[in-house]
Amino acid sequence: MKPKPRIAVLVSGNGSNLQAIIDQATRADFPAKIALVISNNEKAYALERAKRAHIPAVCLSHSGFSSREDHEIRMLEEIEKHQCHFVVLAGFMRLLSPLFVRKFPSRLINLHPSLLPAFKGAHAIEEAWNYGTRVTGVTVHFVDEQMDTGPIILQEVVAITPNLSLKELKDKIHQVEHHLLPAAIELLVTEKLEIVDRKVLIKTGEL
Ligand code: GRF
Repeated sequence: MKPKPRIAVLVSGNGSNLQAIIDQATRADFPAKIALVISNNEKAYALERAKRAHIPAVCLSHSGFSSREDHEIRMLEEIEKHQCHFVVLAGFMRLLSPLFVRKFPSRLINLHPSLLPAFKGAHAIEEAWNYGTRVTGVTVHFVDEQMDTGPIILQEVVAITPNLSLKELKDKIHQVEHHLLPAAIELLVTEKLEIVDRKVLIKTGEL
């Protein structure tokens, strides 16, 4: 049997999305292997989740490096060492420089808790809730050299119904994230995605 494509998952916090990928990866037909988890935060619960799932995990705190590039070079060394062809940002709260991004053309994806291009940045759920939009949602997109601007792979709408609390909205967003990110990974690693004029074509009739 052909070995599954190997992915590295980069995290910074709780890791509920990492967990969702781990859970999906227990399916025999899930087409990717999580070969490495990297956290830039030593307190990230995601590291514990990786450990429990027996996935190699390393903590590379950016504060220990003199520049963004040095930190990224160290992460790249780990990714290479573990022979990961794809990189998934699952709650990785750091902007990646062109040095890193250019290593993974069409092989680096990010999860964002809004309907991009609305509400970019680190506080997307709160900002949509405070603004009073009727809908928000979740986006999985390719990473380019700016923040939250790359070609969009999948999006799903979440309604902000009257009286929905911020906590309830966060829960709804996370629930959607937990199936949208694994779905995007499946499309990515099975080479069903093609970028044409920044639009992502999905080569399947199923989605
Ligand atoms: C998610 O909402 C993701 O969209 C955002 O950070 C959060 C990470 O959650 N970028 P978790 O660490 O996967 O639980």
